[in-house]
Amino acid sequence: MHIDPRPNPNIVPEARPISWLDPVAAQIDLSAYSLGDRAFADIMTSRRSVRTIRPAPIEQVAFVVRETMRTYFVGLDTKHGRKLKTVLSAGALHPVKALITKGSGRPLYYDDDQDSFLSLGIRDERSWLSFQDECREVLPHVDGCLVALIADNRDISRLYSNHQSLLWRDAGAVIQGMAFVAEAVGLAMCPMGILGGDAISALLDPTDDFLAVGIVAIGLSDTFQNAS
Ligand SMILES: Cc1cc2nc3c(=O)[nH]c(=O)nc-3n(C[C@H](O)[C@H](O)[C@H](O)COP(=O)(O)O)c2cc1C
Repeated sequence: MHIDPRPNPNIVPEARPISWLDPVAAQIDLSAYSLGDRAFADIMTSRRSVRTIRPAPIEQVAFVVRETMRTYFVGLDTKHGRKLKTVLSAGALHPVKALITKGSGRPLYYDDDQDSFLSLGIRDERSWLSFQDECREVLPHVDGCLVALIADNRDISRLYSNHQSLLWRDAGAVIQGMAFVAEAVGLAMCPMGILGGDAISALLDPTDDFLAVGIVAIGLSDTFQNAS
């Protein structure tokens, strides 16, 4: 596939808000957590995918998501809609967003514009349960939080031709970044091969503006179950 790495001239990102159902500000206290002081070389070499996971406090998982996806610099004027974060992103658009789910209750959305969490209403319960079931099938020994990654197509599709490949590479960067942060804070994580499209069907009105780009399970490592 031909990929044109040059953005279309004279088009600036709009960075439009997302139409969630009943978004409510969620007070998530992250103050108990830190990135710690392990050497990066140690984190790089010790990180592994873990497939038997117990629930961690949702605040700790939220900490991992925020440290991976928080915005350090926001573009102004002609740079409107562009951000700089720990992870890389084509055109600095950062279209990949994260939803933290625990059980079948309301998910938390990390708003990387406001650096805050929103608790979201579920539009379609059936799709929401189907999302949970599909994840359980892939990793039956995971009982932690699931982080669903969804990509906002709207700006990247206006700025680049054949934009989808850029989204996938952005998603890979987020997954790798999340793996390092989870390791730094002592949490287990495992990406899943499924994409999690039902999460989008459950939370948004039918749309082509968003694409499910992956799911990551995060929680406490259960070494006893791993050995069995
Ligand atoms: C996009 C992606 C999807 C993955 N899907 C699964 C999966 O469905 N089930 C699973 O057990 N591991 C999955 N993994 C984890 C890989 O199997 C794992 O990264 C690989 O075996 C290397 O092991 P390590 O992560 O411990 O270094 C996935 C990894 C990636 C990057």
